[in-house]
Amino acid sequence: MTLAGRGDLPRHVAIIMDGNGRWAKKRRLPRVKGHEAGIRSVEKTVEFCAETGIEVLTLYAFSSENWLRPALEVNALMQLLKRFLRREVPRLQRNRIRLQAIGDLARLDDSVRAELRQAMAATADCPGMVLNLALSYGSRGEIVRAVRRLWQAADRGEVAPETLEPETFARYLDTAGLPDPDIILRTGGESRLSNFLLWQAAYAELYFTATLWPDFTAAELQEIFTDFQHRERRFGMISEQLQS
Ligand code: IPE
Ligand code: IPE
Ligand code: MG
Repeated sequence: MTLAGRGDLPRHVAIIMDGNGRWAKKRRLPRVKGHEAGIRSVEKTVEFCAETGIEVLTLYAFSSENWLRPALEVNALMQLLKRFLRREVPRLQRNRIRLQAIGDLARLDDSVRAELRQAMAATADCPGMVLNLALSYGSRGEIVRAVRRLWQAADRGEVAPETLEPETFARYLDTAGLPDPDIILRTGGESRLSNFLLWQAAYAELYFTATLWPDFTAAELQEIFTDFQHRERRFGMISEQLQS
């Protein structure tokens, strides 16, 4: 856990990009037009975070529950994702951004997985910000997969149950190696986490904005960062202990 004191920028920013459908509905457009418009917000957000010096940006792009949406929408989202991955690689390389993914990637189509693998390989050596896409992601599923991996490691004699600590458990999560999110931000007006980073959110600062994701701007994100820098994160301690 990072002890980011007052004034520090977040190291890890995680965003629940919500409101694309309602953005489209307001304009009497099909929902997929909202998702297309949302991609521009993704590009602007990635660029702004990289320029600001954020270490990790996690974007919730598709939840494990989103598979339950009408097939037409799911397919459109998968096509958009493939197009995004293909088109974005040169820009990621230019900005030295390394692409990673968390989630139940086995559920993705072969063609999506191939595109994702390619984009991750093409940016694997980039030393800058990590752009972490949560795809087919659900926190409960992630925790159960972690327990499975841990169980297998225990069977192989690699871990002893008595020595298990939260920090060792976290190594089996999809987010292994990444710092916990300092900020979890949700656009679109809902105040819920929708199965996002439940374990990792333990000490995240939460932000909810009514702005629909396609309308979200770098200026609003800058305001959120400024607010974050004025919050006192006590991690269970008292104010006086943080001064030292
Ligand atoms: C978020 O926007 C994008 C995904 C979940 C893929 P929504 O599609 O949930 O938009 P609303 O919530 O219906 O407005
Ligand atoms: C959360 O949004 C998932 C993503 C943004 C990818 P949803 O629109 O799926 O969440 P609920 O259904 O309103 O909780
Ligand atoms: Mg939604």
